[in-house]
Amino acid sequence: MILVVGGAGYIGSHTVKNMIANGYDVVVADNLSTGHKEAVLTADFELADLMDKDSLDKIFKKYKIDSVIHFAAFASVAESVKNPSKYYNNNVVGTLNLLNVMLDNNVKNIVFSSTAAVFGNPEYTPIDENHNTNPINPYGQSKLMIEKIFKDYRNAYGLNYIALRYFNASGCSLDGSLGESHNPETHLIPLVLKAIKGENDSIKIFGTDYDTPDGTCIRDFIHVEDLAEAHRLAIEKIADFSGVINLGTNKGTSVREIVKISEDITGKKCPVVLEGRRPGDPGILYTSNQKALDVLGWKPKLNMETIIKTAWDWELNKKY
Ligand code: UFG
Repeated sequence: MILVVGGAGYIGSHTVKNMIANGYDVVVADNLSTGHKEAVLTADFELADLMDKDSLDKIFKKYKIDSVIHFAAFASVAESVKNPSKYYNNNVVGTLNLLNVMLDNNVKNIVFSSTAAVFGNPEYTPIDENHNTNPINPYGQSKLMIEKIFKDYRNAYGLNYIALRYFNASGCSLDGSLGESHNPETHLIPLVLKAIKGENDSIKIFGTDYDTPDGTCIRDFIHVEDLAEAHRLAIEKIADFSGVINLGTNKGTSVREIVKISEDITGKKCPVVLEGRRPGDPGILYTSNQKALDVLGWKPKLNMETIIKTAWDWELNKKY
């Protein structure tokens, strides 16, 4: 059985759906602080918090867990700068609790949500796994700390780990059952679609003076179902490989391009307001996916059009 911690969240819920569709038995543990119970669909569910080691231990005693996929983290860069304690406690201490309970119960396999934020400002693009790590905010630091802990736990205790560093997770499930529902929402694509829908007055474009062809930031948008598939492949490879893998499309799309594609797909105008740069935003961030192909046999299958179409469908027919 696979334990998915944080399986009621955005990427976690899509991964659980993928694992179940591929024949895995899954139990989700989530404290529902940002996740949605409705997103758990058919998996077993346990209400649990990483700060409570006893409740974690009970889950390992109740189910026969082979491997863990760990998504349960706070993930807002801006919030992490204002409130680092929340990030170091939940993301670092919480993960240590999970790792120690795993080892107490002789479970040694973990697939972990890491992030492009471990790199900081890129020295070259596309980024690859050999790029220096130099996070510029507590969120990225907290994830990098865990990557370092994994290394030491591997050497000392034989932990098998794969840390997947996501670039910009986006889109919603193709069948419309799952989607992105953050409160508050800070991500570009849902905010563009909310402006198009009229739920928000406009989209603010943060910075038009970057050294990019249209002056706006460039990001690597990767469909959440492709990310989900990478987690399943990682579980299948966990006995043979431990380390870090970047997950992206090897292609960047600018903020203005996202607005234009969204207008084309929805057939509606997006009201835009130009603003100054948002602190901490690198101009260009996209990744090679060669290692993901070499190690996992993973390649993204869903394109930008599918990302925007599925996100738009979800925006119009949200289930939660
Ligand atoms: N943007 C806007 N207006 C908005 C929101 C975003 O112009 O209202 C721009 C941002 O400035 C950025 C791009 O759109 O250039 C993407 O911003 P997001 O907030 O959607 O995503 P980020 O690239 O900032 O963050 C993502 C993940 C983080 C992760 C980070 C790694 O959400 O968890 O990538 O760099 F840490």
